[in-house]
Amino acid sequence: MEKERGHFGSNFGFLMAAIGSAVGLGNLWGFPYKMGANGGFAFLIIYLALVLLCGVIIMTIEMAIGRKTGKSPVYALATFGKRWRPVGWFGVGASFIIMGFYTVICGWVLRYVVDYFMTLIGQGTITSVDGVTYFTSAFGDITLNLIYTLLAFVITCVIVMGGIQKGIEKFSKVAMPALFVMLIVVIIKGLTMEGSAEGLEFMFTFKSEDFNFFNALRTAGGQMMFSLSLGMGALITYGSYMTKDSNISKNGWIIPIADTIMALLSGLAIFPALFALDMDPSGGPGLLFMTLHNVFDSMGAVGPIFGFVFYVLTLIAALSSMISLVEVSTSHFYDYQASKGKTPSRKKITFWVCLGMFIISLPIIFDKLGESGIFSWVPIKDKDGLDFYDFIASGVLMPLGGVFLSALIGWRKGGMAYLDDEIRVHDNKFVARGFFNVVVKITPAIMIVVLFSLLLSYFGL
Ligand code: TRP
Repeated sequence: MEKERGHFGSNFGFLMAAIGSAVGLGNLWGFPYKMGANGGFAFLIIYLALVLLCGVIIMTIEMAIGRKTGKSPVYALATFGKRWRPVGWFGVGASFIIMGFYTVICGWVLRYVVDYFMTLIGQGTITSVDGVTYFTSAFGDITLNLIYTLLAFVITCVIVMGGIQKGIEKFSKVAMPALFVMLIVVIIKGLTMEGSAEGLEFMFTFKSEDFNFFNALRTAGGQMMFSLSLGMGALITYGSYMTKDSNISKNGWIIPIADTIMALLSGLAIFPALFALDMDPSGGPGLLFMTLHNVFDSMGAVGPIFGFVFYVLTLIAALSSMISLVEVSTSHFYDYQASKGKTPSRKKITFWVCLGMFIISLPIIFDKLGESGIFSWVPIKDKDGLDFYDFIASGVLMPLGGVFLSALIGWRKGGMAYLDDEIRVHDNKFVARGFFNVVVKITPAIMIVVLFSLLLSYFGL
């Protein structure tokens, strides 16, 4: 049974897949913007503190639970008793909801990749209009969005169908290093433009007038959970494919550090160029699509090349994250069928999971970022589908998952012994165990504060 389920071929392969899951759209547009808008350097310090006090802890816990049980979230958590099962279900539900909006955004990225490519071969239209006009027509065009979203699903589906080693690991081992190199190329271009220093200033100076501790704490908390793919079982799932000789506790540091570095590098890729060209650093889709489009346009002849490279790297980052989201549900239904005594077909399950996720994404496509008003009934501040899906996943399910998962080890009897047992298998070292032993007790409390303050923010409080 174990063999059929699949496993990663090496710890490097696991790391690339896990870092691939973490590094995504959240890093590219979420982190740099949130940092700039919340006091710059002060936000960074709070973010780093949360990564240390919650991120590393929850990440390690998830991997340990996954590998020890060798199961997907629902079944893995059921080993602690039936009442823990819902925490696993949150994860499966969250994977559908996150994919429901994430893939639509990935579809836009795909469209930019294709258009810049066409421009490079002299056939494109993207450089003939400004960023705002182009993006507005992009999200308003339902047919094209259906096509590109579907395409993003097909690519993800094919990779996940390939299995752990021949699909996910193989893709991640090539894609992640490539992403890194492309990011460096874009950064060098940005930093060598005249006036780029202002962008560094935007990110790294402490701006007390923009800083509010409470706001920074909840923004950083939500960002940290989302960016590290925590609280919904993605790392339980990947952990279940990890071999016993991998050092979980070392990986629990490497992944968050790599993700944070990539988030900072994303800022370096975006802001210096943006400020050099005197553009407005407003966040969200606006930044990633409209503003950056204008940035590439103003670079002259080399613009389309950098545009192409930038959106390809964004595409890679998004795809490797989507793979992990699909795998959470694929492995769930795989384990479900196996538990019923059937011989599961990974390909079939992946197909149905992706189809289901595509259906969940339809309302977001038809919503046109709130323009159509089909989400006007939602009880949150922003009346659009993207924010509503994001609210359910990042505002409720993921932080809640974080509370339960950290409490499971930190507050439950025998929690630390459980970790010790799994981490130290094969004589692996438990890195900074003393630190972990103390902090794991306060992680649930911090997560509760993050959860409630984050909830308030969605209602505009
Ligand atoms: N971490 C990814 C990002 O920053 C998104 C993501 C991938 C994710 N897998 C996840 C978020 C699982 C939450 C849970 O873009």
